[in-house]
Amino acid sequence: MDKIKIVGGNRLNGTIPISGAKNAALPLMIASLLSAETLTLENVPRLRDVALLQRILSNHGVNYTLVGKRPGEDHLTGQTIHFNAGEITDLVAPYELVSQMRASFWVIGPLLARFGEAKVSLPGGCAIGTRPVDFFISGLRQLGARIEIEAGYVLAKAPEGGLVGGRVTFPKVSVGATHTIMMAATLARGETIIENAAREPEVTDLANCLKAMGARIEGAGTDTIRVTGVERLHAATHRVLPDRIETGTYAMAVAMTGGDVTLEGTSATLLQAALDVLRQTGVDVSETATGIRIRSSGGDLKAVDVTTEPFPGFPTDLQAQFMALMTRSTGVSHIRETIFENRFMHVAELARLGARIALDGDLATVEGVAQLTGAPVMATDLRASVSLVIAGLVASGETHVSRVYHLDRGFERLEEKLSRCGADIERISGEGMR
Ligand code: UD1
Repeated sequence: MDKIKIVGGNRLNGTIPISGAKNAALPLMIASLLSAETLTLENVPRLRDVALLQRILSNHGVNYTLVGKRPGEDHLTGQTIHFNAGEITDLVAPYELVSQMRASFWVIGPLLARFGEAKVSLPGGCAIGTRPVDFFISGLRQLGARIEIEAGYVLAKAPEGGLVGGRVTFPKVSVGATHTIMMAATLARGETIIENAAREPEVTDLANCLKAMGARIEGAGTDTIRVTGVERLHAATHRVLPDRIETGTYAMAVAMTGGDVTLEGTSATLLQAALDVLRQTGVDVSETATGIRIRSSGGDLKAVDVTTEPFPGFPTDLQAQFMALMTRSTGVSHIRETIFENRFMHVAELARLGARIALDGDLATVEGVAQLTGAPVMATDLRASVSLVIAGLVASGETHVSRVYHLDRGFERLEEKLSRCGADIERISGEGMR
C-alpha cells in the first residue's frame, strides 16, 4: 500500500489550483439518473470516490464518456464527463458497492422518482459515527413511498402513478437527505416543501443543475426548499463548484507552515466561517479576483475556539485540519464537534507527533506545543488523514502517513499541489516501501 512521506519545515509559497468539489460532484452525478437525456458535468475532480460512483452508476446502466482535454487544459483542470441514463437496466444498488461509499445510497431518490422503485443496500462509508438513514426513509414516505427494510436492503416503492409532493421536516440538518428528497421531488406530482433543509453550497449547486435540467426549485441555500414536480427532466451542462473543503485545508496548511499562497479558482463566500477563524489566529486572508490569498509569517498562532455547525457555520469537514493547526498555537483551543459523534480518530495520531489533546465527549482541548516531531501515523478517514499531512508539514524530521487511500477519496493530487509550493512531500508506492 502507498505511503506519503513528508519532511517538515518548509514554508509554502506559490499558487494552488482548487479542484471541483467532491461533495457536489457526487450528488450531481447521481442526478443524471433523473433523465433519459445526457447530463454533462464540467470540472469533475479526479478522485477515487468519483471513480467508484461511476462504477455504481454504470451498474445501474448509466453510460459515461469522458471528454478529452481541450486546448488550454492540463492535468490540473477538472474533467468533463457526459452521463446518460437513457437505458437503466438495474434498480438495485448492491451492498458490495454501496458499502464503500455512503453517498451512493442517495441513488434511492432518483431511481424511485423516475422508475417507481429501488432496492438499495444500507450504506457504509467513513467510520465517523453511526450515520443512520432514518431521515431519508421518513422523507421518502412523506412523498408517498412504501418502504421496507429487508436483509440489509431498503426496498422502496412509489404509489401507482408515482411519488406525490409532500411536506418533509428534517429533525436535524442532513446534507444527504436534503439532496435525496430534493432530487426525488423534482419528478413527484405537485409541490414538496423541505423544512430544516441543509444550506450547504453543494445543495445550491445541485439545485442549480436540476433547474438547468428543467426542475422547478425555489429556496435552495435557505432552510426551506420548495420543489414543484415536473413530468420529465432534460439534457443540461453544469460546472461543478469549487471544493470549499480543499480550499480550507490548504489555507490551514499555509497558516501552519507560514508562507504566501494563492488558492486559485475558488471563492471566499464558500467558507466565510472558516476564513474568519483563520484571521482570528493571526493569518492574513484576502480575496483576489480569482481566488483567495493566504499569508502567514509562520510566527505565533493565536488559539481560537471552534464549534462545528451546519453551513454557514464552521464545517465538520475542516475540524481535523483546524485541530492540527491548533496543536502549534500559543494557547489552549477548545474544539467542539456537534455533527458526528465519532470524529476524533485523528487525535490519537496527532498525539504520536507530540500534540497535547484531551478528549471529553464532543469536546477536544488542544494545548499548543512549540514543536511537533515526525513519526509514522495512520490515516483513519478522509479529513482526518489530511490533518496528519498538515501536521507533518511542520513536524521536525520525517512523517510517514500510511493508508493513504483515504486521502485519494477526496484530495486530487495532494502531493503535487503541495510540493509545487515548496513542501517536501512524496508518495512512496507499496513496492518502494519493501
Ligand atoms: C455530508 C458530506 C460530509 C459532511 C457531512 C456534514 C457528502 C458526500 N458528504 O455527509 O462530507 O461531513 O455532510 O456536513 O456530501 N443523520 C441522521 N439520519 C439520517 C441522516 C443523517 O441521524 O437519516 C445525521 C448524521 O448521523 C449526522 C448528521 O445527521 O450526525 C449530519 O449528517 P449528513 O449531513 O446527512 O451527512 P452526509 O450527507 O452523510
